[in-house]
Amino acid sequence: MHLTADVVVGLAWGDEAKGKITSELAATGQYDAVARWAGGNNAGHTVYVGGKKYKTHLIPSGVFHGIPSIIGPGCVLHPASFQEELNYLEENGFDTSLVRVSPKCHIVKDEYIEFDKANLAAKLGTTSKGIAPAYSAKSARTGVLAKEYFADRPEILWDEKLSGTLLCEGAQGTWLDLDHGNYPYVTSSTTLAYGACSIGFPPQLIKEVWGAAKIYDTRSGEDPLFPNRLLDDPILTELGELGAEYGVTTGRRRKCNWLNLERLIKSIQINGCTNVVISKCDVLEELGIFKAYYGEGIELSTFDSLEDMQMEISEYIRMHCPLVRRIIYSSSPETI
Ligand code: IMP
Ligand code: MG
Repeated sequence: MHLTADVVVGLAWGDEAKGKITSELAATGQYDAVARWAGGNNAGHTVYVGGKKYKTHLIPSGVFHGIPSIIGPGCVLHPASFQEELNYLEENGFDTSLVRVSPKCHIVKDEYIEFDKANLAAKLGTTSKGIAPAYSAKSARTGVLAKEYFADRPEILWDEKLSGTLLCEGAQGTWLDLDHGNYPYVTSSTTLAYGACSIGFPPQLIKEVWGAAKIYDTRSGEDPLFPNRLLDDPILTELGELGAEYGVTTGRRRKCNWLNLERLIKSIQINGCTNVVISKCDVLEELGIFKAYYGEGIELSTFDSLEDMQMEISEYIRMHCPLVRRIIYSSSPETI
């Protein structure tokens, strides 16, 4: 196997601009394929190509750059939504013959979506896409595989061969991970970087791990770590408005809070990030207030300027995360 892999992973609760980073990396031309390793169309990836904004939920961002795009064995796929996304991409002039589905990917049945809506959406704030029931069926070994579902469309199935340089596109984020998140306020898959290996390669082949974070925290969905009273805080509300913090998949208003540095450090460590991209710095600049939590959200520090805050964050990361070689602060919504 002549393969190397780079990984893009979310360091928070999703919505950390992974789509932007993946798309920009894919555009460099150094990758032979882009693959998703987890989740389904609960994700919402916003990508800018040629100045135009596109939104996808399941199909990896390689398709925007003429690169084969693989939906991996750890993903779940709702056929009608998948077809809708293929149509959307085709209508916008992208070559969807590049999209491949792992034969081992699991199918989301319509009835799973109904179950999710009726039983989980209100309690856990799920995206109502049938994700938990699909992974439950997979674990219970009663699931339907893509290779069974797509029996009459074999051309869409991935041949499971890997070579060259692979870009692995994360979905959701570290603190939504089934094992490491705030259970049961999590999603049902492995969102951490090591999960990329489930695409079908060993961990030694991973070269770069790009961690995506924002300079403030957001959460869509229920989570005691993000109490609903955050929605009533006038400054955090202004922050959310300036940052247009509404879910790509659900349109829900996201709860905003100041960056929790302790958690950021933990997620950089557990994912083994070699690069960290901290986005939306322009939003804090516009707000004109610069704060971050230390010590598990106990101590709130205020900085005089964006530059001061960035210096402090960089120093903290460098002190605790020796694998990190590059820290990039990003402002423009379209590029890193
Ligand atoms: P589920 O993945 O739809 O079951 O939702 C479980 C939890 O993960 C809910 O709190 C969702 O809001 C959250 N979630 C799932 N996917 C995303 C995402 O792509 N971005 C942000 N939050 C997500
Ligand atoms: Mg998103």
